[in-house]
Amino acid sequence: PTIYVITPTYWRPVQEAELTRLSHTFQLVPKLHWIVIEDSNTTTKLVGDLLRRSLLTYTRLHVATPQAYKLPANPKLSWVHPRGVLQRNLGLQWLRTNLDAEKQKGVVYFADDDNTYDQALFEEMRSTKTVSVWPVGLVGGLLVEGPLVEGGKVVSWNSVWKRHRPFPIDMAGFAINLRLLLNHPNVAFKLKAEIGYQESLLLKEIVTISELEPRADNCSKVLVWHTRTEAPKLDQENNGSYIFQPNLPCFKK
Ligand code: UGA
Ligand code: MN
Repeated sequence: PTIYVITPTYWRPVQEAELTRLSHTFQLVPKLHWIVIEDSNTTTKLVGDLLRRSLLTYTRLHVATPQAYKLPANPKLSWVHPRGVLQRNLGLQWLRTNLDAEKQKGVVYFADDDNTYDQALFEEMRSTKTVSVWPVGLVGGLLVEGPLVEGGKVVSWNSVWKRHRPFPIDMAGFAINLRLLLNHPNVAFKLKAEIGYQESLLLKEIVTISELEPRADNCSKVLVWHTRTEAPKLDQENNGSYIFQPNLPCFKK
């Protein structure tokens, strides 16, 4: 099966660095198709050049988050809206338009652009029949948040933050069989979901807890980390003594 990796992304000073790290990880993975959806009114040169240079199989899409759902600049208010919703949904729409459940075997994974992925994670998820799950490092206020497994089945969750969510896991903690998504053509992420509930609202429409397939040695290994890159200090950018101003897309807003 091919792994279809859906990544929403948006412009900020670290974007090129994040996507470079991701593209280099994905180059280590066979049969991977990267679907990158820019949160923007147009596709950008930065992302286009990066994808072409990567030699990966990719699809490049764009859709802008409506103004009313854009996050405020103040990082303290960064939790008011879910992120990447319309972008992931456009990725799902691309799968439904372009792939045929009878002909293509696939697995779908939502990989945010700032996380850190072990190449071994992709071989864990490749055999997903319904929905596979594994722990995620550095999320939910914990070193590791993830499913607790007994007898090869998920029996509960090692999650504390909003632990009564139907599926208290992060976006990075599961993959879905392509056929399951194609057979549920209306399943999508919701712009109005309460923070932390995006994953649960989608999963509860397509799977039950007893059907989940634990991976990563019965969910005992961490193969993905919810890293979040610090916003760099750029306070000398407008200093008159600074003369290095390369004409690269990452320096232009
Ligand atoms: C956490 C989860 O890990 C996300 O999967 C989930 O979407 C998010 O919460 C949420 O509740 O909405 P967090 O690290 O806070 O994630 O979110 P980001 O990494 O900032 O954003 C998730 C993805 O959306 C990233 O790939 C990012 O590039 C993209 N994004 C973010 C946009 O496309 N546009 C934005 O304005 C912000
Ligand atoms: Mn993130």
